[in-house]
Amino acid sequence: MATSRGGKQRQPLLHSPTPTAAKGGGPAGNRRFLAFLAITAALVASYHLLLPTNSSRYHALFLSLGSNATAAAHLRALTLRPHVAGTEANAAAARYVLDAFSSLSFPAHITPYSVLLSYPAHRSLSLAAAPGLAARPFALVQETYPGDPYAEASAEVIPTYFAYSGSGSVTAEVVYANYGHNEDYAYLASRGVDVAGKVALVRYGDLHCEDMVRNARAAGAAAAIVYTDAKDFGGSAEKGAKRKWFPDGRWLPPTGVQVGTLYYGTGDPTTPLWPSCAAGDDCERLSKEELDGSEAMPGMPALPVSARDGETILKAMGGDVAPPEWQGGDGAPVYRLGPGPAVLNLTYTGNDTLATIENVFAVIEGREEPDRYVIIGNHRDAWTFGAVDPSSGTAAMLEMAERLSKLQAEGWRPRRTIILCSWDAEEFALIGSTEWAEENMDTLASRAVAYLNVDISIFGPGGLKPRATPQLDELIKEASKMVPDPDEPSLTLYDTMMRYHPPITRVAGAGTDFAAFLQHIGIPSFDMSYGLFEEYPVYHSLYDDYVWMQRFGDPLFQRHVAVASIWGLIALKLADDEIIPFNYVSYASELEEYTKGIIETCRGFPVSFSPLQKSVKQFESAATKIYKEKKLLQAESWSLKARQYTLKVREINDRLMMAERGFTNREGLIGRPWYKHMIYGTSDEDDWGAKAFPGIVSAMDKAMKSNTTESWQSLQHEIYRVARAVSKASAVLDGRLT
Ligand SMILES: *[C@@H]1O[C@H](CO)[C@@H](O)[C@H](O)[C@H]1NC(C)=O
Ligand SMILES: *[C@@H]1O[C@H](CO)[C@@H](O)[C@H](O)[C@H]1NC(C)=O
Ligand SMILES: *[C@@H]1O[C@H](CO)[C@@H](O)[C@H](O)[C@H]1NC(C)=O
Ligand SMILES: *[C@@H]1O[C@H](CO)[C@@H](O)[C@H](O)[C@H]1NC(C)=O
Repeated sequence: MATSRGGKQRQPLLHSPTPTAAKGGGPAGNRRFLAFLAITAALVASYHLLLPTNSSRYHALFLSLGSNATAAAHLRALTLRPHVAGTEANAAAARYVLDAFSSLSFPAHITPYSVLLSYPAHRSLSLAAAPGLAARPFALVQETYPGDPYAEASAEVIPTYFAYSGSGSVTAEVVYANYGHNEDYAYLASRGVDVAGKVALVRYGDLHCEDMVRNARAAGAAAAIVYTDAKDFGGSAEKGAKRKWFPDGRWLPPTGVQVGTLYYGTGDPTTPLWPSCAAGDDCERLSKEELDGSEAMPGMPALPVSARDGETILKAMGGDVAPPEWQGGDGAPVYRLGPGPAVLNLTYTGNDTLATIENVFAVIEGREEPDRYVIIGNHRDAWTFGAVDPSSGTAAMLEMAERLSKLQAEGWRPRRTIILCSWDAEEFALIGSTEWAEENMDTLASRAVAYLNVDISIFGPGGLKPRATPQLDELIKEASKMVPDPDEPSLTLYDTMMRYHPPITRVAGAGTDFAAFLQHIGIPSFDMSYGLFEEYPVYHSLYDDYVWMQRFGDPLFQRHVAVASIWGLIALKLADDEIIPFNYVSYASELEEYTKGIIETCRGFPVSFSPLQKSVKQFESAATKIYKEKKLLQAESWSLKARQYTLKVREINDRLMMAERGFTNREGLIGRPWYKHMIYGTSDEDDWGAKAFPGIVSAMDKAMKSNTTESWQSLQHEIYRVARAVSKASAVLDGRLT
């Protein structure tokens, strides 16, 4: 849709027409003229009070423009074919998004990078021949169903595999290791089950695949097989209810497989701490030898398999009966620990190759502060059709973009620049967003107000589930009060969200594209979805398609509209409000709570938390102070000259924007230098685990295990490092030099 820009914008009084009242002449006329001049001067001085066109009018208009038909049409178009990063189908999807932005009259462009992706070249898995039995190969195919409209396109779906899996052939006895936690291996050891050189069989449910494979390797396994237990993904835990898997129910069919990535880092593996470049350009890259020796690579073969294949393997196992929590659901065989006698032969050859990925951008330039960015992002690449992950987010973003273009046609332009980003290769290692953030790091560090991510927008029913850095809490709450809940239209998203405790969680883990913005650069970040992950058992499988979305995820596409509404409204407030709507008082109380929690855990340990307590107090007073300053400035704006006021607003905004950067540390977390945020980061064992003070937590774990003087000193060092980061952030908020 074409837009007409400008149009209805109210002109500033500076350019007001020449007064007609002055034309009279004479002393009375002169006095009137002087009085008029005085009033005009006063108005000119405080024209900033009248200048901002009423942005709440536009925000209300934005909310009224939602269209479920638009969201549904985008979702259908984006999910006609599977679109893994680096393939021709995903390049077509990039063009689709680019055309959608351009047709809305937004300047749009593509930024390509050449990065290391990983595809399967050969896979085979068989239960090796046992006395009297021939070897039984597994088909490793996800089956379509009669009448599947995507049956033909399914031929294009990538064979089930793990990206960056090691290549090789392992033939060994199987050991069953439950959900693959380190504690599960400790339990196996306590039962005398030796994992060394064996194939570990683990199930999805608690950990992400790269953590499971890493833990299996650390326990000594030579290979890992990861399956989706019917209890967790196939609906067999629904007591009494008849299992209904897709297309009759939302559950994962028995041949469904959850694929994923095993790379343990973030971004292009060949450019671990610096940006990659486009094909044909020259940038430094790790060599193949360096990559093979990298800690971030899994270093052994691994393969995901279906519930049916997992069960077949478990049935062929002997050894002690596994504990009750390790067992399956209704109708499952008895699970045993092994080892063997089942012997598996896993043979895998990967094709790790440089491929081109494409990030697509649309830019809506700010009118008053074009050099301040509110960044909206979602990834585009999918493991399969990706109706839920991530196209539900892309459809919501494009629906939002259409509304923003209608606002422009009505004369709106944001105060600050809004950037819409469609990332590539998120599934492999958050690659597209990471390379771009690394390439633009210092510009972003000095100009980005916030990063607003939506990966999956809809899992199914269950209300809004936001997570954010805490200065955004108040804004999220206020905005969610303005959007009706699509499932309970008499209530708002706020009402249904407040049923959860806590209603807003933290962006502590990684797992999606906010990682580079928050954890590498320190930009206030937000991420959300509608519904609960448990509602979406077909995650990363063949069955994540439009039919699933239409039947189970969002039959009326009103949930998509609600996500676009809240996402867009938060972006609009951040882009249009004169003073950035951040409230650091809630950040201060979160910090206080984490501090209390960690002190409680470390009671009796030979460390002191007083540096941290002191810095949190400091942060609290800085947060309260800037909050008061903001109120005072708003109350006294009439008494300030326009220029003075503008500069004062900018000064407060800069402090609000930059305070989050204070929480970063140049060296980053110990052993994980890319992760620079000292408050929010991933934990060591679980890449997705949400933890505050990640450095303190991992030093504490180590100290508790080893109990040496050095380990307690390391913990104390981490406490100081976090305390310094909190002081640094306070100083930015405070805005004064010592
Ligand atoms: C701006 O618009 C909103 C909603 O239309 C209205 O409630 C508010 O009073 C308006 N404010 C100004 C300053 O005009
Ligand atoms: C590896 O993948 C690339 C890109 O898809 C392809 O061009 C190449 O032929 C593949 N090589 C092998 C050995 O499969
Ligand atoms: C394992 O399977 C591969 C591929 O089918 C085969 O080449 C290899 O000989 C098998 N290894 C053993 C020890 O059976
Ligand atoms: C949009 O919502 C309306 C009202 O809820 C519904 O009748 C219509 O079928 C929906 N459209 C789509 C494409 O789902």
